[in-house]
Amino acid sequence: MDHGFLYGDGIFEAFRAYKGRIFQFDAHMNRLYDSAKIIGLNIPLSQEEFKKVIIETVRKSGYQDCYIRPQVTRGIGLLGCDPGSCKESTVVVYVVPLPGMKKDRSIRIVISSYRRPSACILPGSSKMTQYINLILARMEAKASGVDDALLLDTRGFLSEGPGWNVFLVKDRTVITPSIASSILVGITRNVIIRLFKESNYAVEERDVVVSELYTADEIFGTGTGTEITPVIEVNGRKIGEGKPGPVTNEMDEKFREFKKGNGTPVYE
Ligand SMILES: Cc1ncc(COP(=O)(O)O)c(C=O)c1O
Repeated sequence: MDHGFLYGDGIFEAFRAYKGRIFQFDAHMNRLYDSAKIIGLNIPLSQEEFKKVIIETVRKSGYQDCYIRPQVTRGIGLLGCDPGSCKESTVVVYVVPLPGMKKDRSIRIVISSYRRPSACILPGSSKMTQYINLILARMEAKASGVDDALLLDTRGFLSEGPGWNVFLVKDRTVITPSIASSILVGITRNVIIRLFKESNYAVEERDVVVSELYTADEIFGTGTGTEITPVIEVNGRKIGEGKPGPVTNEMDEKFREFKKGNGTPVYE
């Protein structure tokens, strides 16, 4: 059986096409190949060949707005943790339609009792197919009646949510956990940081403590699936005015504009 199925031994990417253009295609493909390097996995295609396969798959789907998920697993091998018996990686490209985000998508969250594993447990900067840590955190949040969870790292600093990076705004300074906090370095996160810097905001990538959430003017999450999602409540406490703040709204607008002007055309 495939070691991806047996042991979660694999990697993937998740990105989107908006109006027939793949958003941040190269950044996602670079991260896919970096993820493979981190876990010593062979991708049996060059990056250019893989991009062509993805474009062809989206073309065949006919979708203009979709979620695109290339996944590579270790392949079929004998039982046991040794991947040496897996001779050929399995490559799958999965495309599903995904319309744009609805306007009001504020969320209420709790701090999870689960922690993001540190790099000496699992290299979080590789987008690996083991999401159980994040799944458990999401389940816990839903069971307590809120939308989602924010996980801390093993040191107790803020890390990330299930599928999103977190940003705080305080006195017009933008703060987000650094790679040292066991985050997946989000492609959306990188775009948002760039857009903030271009708008002359101070951006701090650093260790962030929980109490900073409670005193933040605004909090929002970023990710391919969630885009920019305002966080209006943490552990039952209202953040700022308890509604999406002006900096979040400004960045949401800038991000929408940025998406329009960028992307690799699929159908041209
Ligand atoms: C664990 C985790 N963190 C952060 C993100 C956000 O990354 P991106 O902006 O590249 O989608 C994701 C996205 O899937 C994720 O799975």
